[in-house]
Amino acid sequence: MSDKYDKILQTRLESYIKDDKDYWSFRGKAAREHAHAYFQYPAMMVPQMQGQLMSIMKEVVPNIKKVLDPFVGSGTSMTEAMLQDFDFVGQDVNPFAYLLCKVKSGPFFINKIDSKVQLINERIDRYKSLKIEANFAGLNKWFQPNVSIELSQIKKAIKNESSTWARRFFWIALAETIRLTSNCRTSTFKLHIRPKEEIEKRNISAKNTFKDILYRNIDRFSKIYELLCQKKLLRNGHYKRQIDLNIGNTAAEIINGEESDLLITSPPYGDNRTTVPYGQYSYLPLQWIPSCDITPKLAATYLKTTSEIDRQSLGGIQKDAISKSRYLCNVSSTFERAMNKLENDPLDCQARLASFCTDIDSSIKVITDSLKPNSYMIWILGNRRIANKNIPLDTILSELLTEKGAKLIANLKRKILNKRSANKNNTTSTIGSESILVFRKTA
Ligand SMILES: C[S@@+](CC[C@H](N)C(=O)[O-])C[C@H]1O[C@@H](n2cnc3c(N)ncnc32)[C@H](O)[C@@H]1O
Repeated sequence: MSDKYDKILQTRLESYIKDDKDYWSFRGKAAREHAHAYFQYPAMMVPQMQGQLMSIMKEVVPNIKKVLDPFVGSGTSMTEAMLQDFDFVGQDVNPFAYLLCKVKSGPFFINKIDSKVQLINERIDRYKSLKIEANFAGLNKWFQPNVSIELSQIKKAIKNESSTWARRFFWIALAETIRLTSNCRTSTFKLHIRPKEEIEKRNISAKNTFKDILYRNIDRFSKIYELLCQKKLLRNGHYKRQIDLNIGNTAAEIINGEESDLLITSPPYGDNRTTVPYGQYSYLPLQWIPSCDITPKLAATYLKTTSEIDRQSLGGIQKDAISKSRYLCNVSSTFERAMNKLENDPLDCQARLASFCTDIDSSIKVITDSLKPNSYMIWILGNRRIANKNIPLDTILSELLTEKGAKLIANLKRKILNKRSANKNNTTSTIGSESILVFRKTA
C-alpha cells in the first residue's frame, strides 16, 4: 500500500515542475502574512511552500494527524499545520524560538487584546522611572542610555499585565523593538556593533517603535484569528487540536514527539557559529525577557555567554569531533569525500563538518524513532561552503537517512535569495539553492 502512495506522491510533487521548473522556489509568492510576520527570525521557511507540501500530503496519504518539526524556529510549519487542522509537536534548542511559537499557537482572545493594548500603552506613557530593568555585561555597549530607560519602562508595563498569554505577545513586540533600537546592526545575524558616529547620530524612541510594532502585530493577530475562524479551527479562542512545544536538543531527544505521522523541517545548514547564529541573534531580546515568562523550568545557563545557545545547537561542540565522526565514513561516502577535500585546510574546517554531521546523524535516529512506521519526512535544506568548498549536505543527509531504512521519494530543487550573511558587515544578496527531500520511513 505504501508503495502506491510513494508513486502518487512522487508524480504529484514532480508534476509542478513540468510547467515551471522553478515552481518550488515560490518566487513572488512568499509574502509573510498574519502570524508569520510577528518577528523577523533568521532563515524562516516559505509559509506557502510548507502549506502546499502539507496539503499534498494530507490529500494523498490517509490518516495524517500529528506533524513534527524538531527544528521549529519561528514556527512557520506550526502555523501552516494549524491551518490544515493537524496536531503539532515542535522543538527548538533556542528558548526565544520556543517563546515565539508559544505566541503563535494562541490563545486567540480577540475580544480581550484591544483593552490589554490600551492598558499597556497607558502604563508606558505614565512610567517615568529611570531604573534600568536589565543587567548584563555589554548593556551599555548594545543600548544607548535613553533606549535602555524606555525599554525598562516598557518592560515594567509588560510585567504588570496579569495574563501570561498577553505578556508573551507583548514580549515578542518588545523583542522586535530591541532588534530595531539596539546598537547592533540589523544587516547581519551576528552581534555586530554599528559605527560609533552612526550610534551618536541616531535618534530613536523605543516607546514609539514598540507601539508601532504592537499595532502592526495586533493587525496580524486579527488576520490569523479570522483565518482560523473561517476554517472552524478555534474553540473558545483556543486552537482545537493539540500543540506541544518544547525547548530541547533534537540530537539527544524529542519531547512528546512519539507516534508522529509526518515530519516537515528545515534544520540548520551547519554549526550556528559559522552559518546562522540563531542563539546570538536572540541574545539581546532574551536579556530583557524574564525567563519565567518563557517557561518556568528554563535552565539558567542559556545566557552564560553570547554563544551558549549556539554551542548547544547542532555542530556546536567541536572537541574530538573528527574522531567521533569516523563511523560516518562507512555510512556516507559523500561525507568521507567532503572530509578528504578539507584535509589541507585549517583543522577546524574538518571539525566543523564532522561535529555537524555527527549531530545531524544523531537527530535522524531520534526523529525516525519518533515517527510511526511508513511516515513521510520532508527535509528542506541547502548546501554550504566550508573553506570555499561546496559541501553537498543534501546528499550526505540522504545517505544517512537511507542507512536508517528511509526511502527517497522525491528530491525537488528550489532557488533561494540570501539577503543577509552571518559574518560580513554589509548586506549581501546571493542566489543559493535548497533541496526538498521527501522520504518514507520504511522500517
Ligand atoms: C533553519 S532554522 C528553522 C527555521 C524554521 N523553519 C522557520 O521557518 O522559522 C533551524 C532551527 O534549528 C534550531 N536548532 C539548531 N540546533 C538544534 C538542536 N540541536 N535541537 C533543536 N533545535 C536546533 C535553531 O535554533 C533554529 O531555530
